[in-house]
Amino acid sequence: MQLPKNFLFGAASAAHQVEGNNINSNWWHEEQLGKLPKSGLATNHYNEFGEDFVLAKQIGLNALRISVEWSRIEPKENEWNMEEVEHYHEVLQKMKELGLTRMVTLFHFTLPQWAAKLGGLESKYVVERFAKFSKFVAENLGHEIDLWITINEPEVYTLLGYFRGVHPPFKKSLWTSVKVVQNLITAHNQSYLAIKSALPSAKIGMAKNNVYYEPYRAKNLLDRGLVALLKYFGNHYILNRTISHCDFIGLNYYFYQNIKFSWASGGVLKNAERIKSVMGLKTYPKGLYFLLRDLAKYKKPIYITENGIANANDEMRQRFIKEHLEAVSLAVKERIDVRGYFNWSLTDTFEWHDGYGLKFGLIEINFETGERKIRPGAEVFNKVIKNI
Ligand code: BGC
Repeated sequence: MQLPKNFLFGAASAAHQVEGNNINSNWWHEEQLGKLPKSGLATNHYNEFGEDFVLAKQIGLNALRISVEWSRIEPKENEWNMEEVEHYHEVLQKMKELGLTRMVTLFHFTLPQWAAKLGGLESKYVVERFAKFSKFVAENLGHEIDLWITINEPEVYTLLGYFRGVHPPFKKSLWTSVKVVQNLITAHNQSYLAIKSALPSAKIGMAKNNVYYEPYRAKNLLDRGLVALLKYFGNHYILNRTISHCDFIGLNYYFYQNIKFSWASGGVLKNAERIKSVMGLKTYPKGLYFLLRDLAKYKKPIYITENGIANANDEMRQRFIKEHLEAVSLAVKERIDVRGYFNWSLTDTFEWHDGYGLKFGLIEINFETGERKIRPGAEVFNKVIKNI
């Protein structure tokens, strides 16, 4: 494989999915009402981060993406918890000590409960508060952060929370979804400016979830038209409106969709089968190469901020990662500026509304004992690194 010399081999996680006892967040609140599975102690990463980072090093990684939890740092509006700042300071210090480049996300699906009560990301006021939070993190932890992600997967956040109604605030409205997308664009742009005002040299991006769309019938105009629409709205709409406020592009890539226009189902899109992973999503490593090529036009460095597979028995993980890294290598050979790959996820996690069933981890967690074990598939990193 041909990958740049300083390429980041990393893994990603998000606070609510691993820390445990995230009691001031809106997710926790809804979990207690019985609307979602309970995250409880999660992987207890809040206390076990040191062990997790040492294991990351053993896997061969030189970078990690974590998130800081807004509801810990600002549990009540305008009340800042300096003990939690100190906690994250220790976390980031530990990463530095181990030589891990630190990528930090500010918003990964969870809000403080007070912000959710004020209307969450439907509210312009909460968008402003997010910029304040961003500035606070920049001022208090900024010198410990190498790469910033403002918002994780804006479309997925909107789709699941405001259109399909399976994540808080459980709404099902196209109109509200449109409004939330607009607010997320503003939230990113304002957060970018707020961080830069405190730390002009900060390197900031967003984690954009892009899908590789392919027409089911290569020459069919309707299939092709649908693909063009999906590409525009799904992959480029938000990027076009935030790229001037991005120092790099973060790309989350999980799967591809084969798009067919079908009169029989009332003109609705239909996914034709192709390659299926155990979690039912259609994985297609080469799709990553096509998406990187597609993003090259923005002329910004690119990091793959998430890519992974839920695979409890681990039989597919090694091949999955290797083939996706090969796709990156192909893009690099064409001089596309890809600087890192973060696998989802470092450990098994609390998988949002799916609870603890899906096993994405390079590290297996025994949720009863808290024991950690590197999955054999994770060895792929050491093997690849040796051979570049
Ligand atoms: C999210 C993660 C999630 C992963 C796997 C991504 O959409 O950013 O939080 O765990 O997918 O479902």
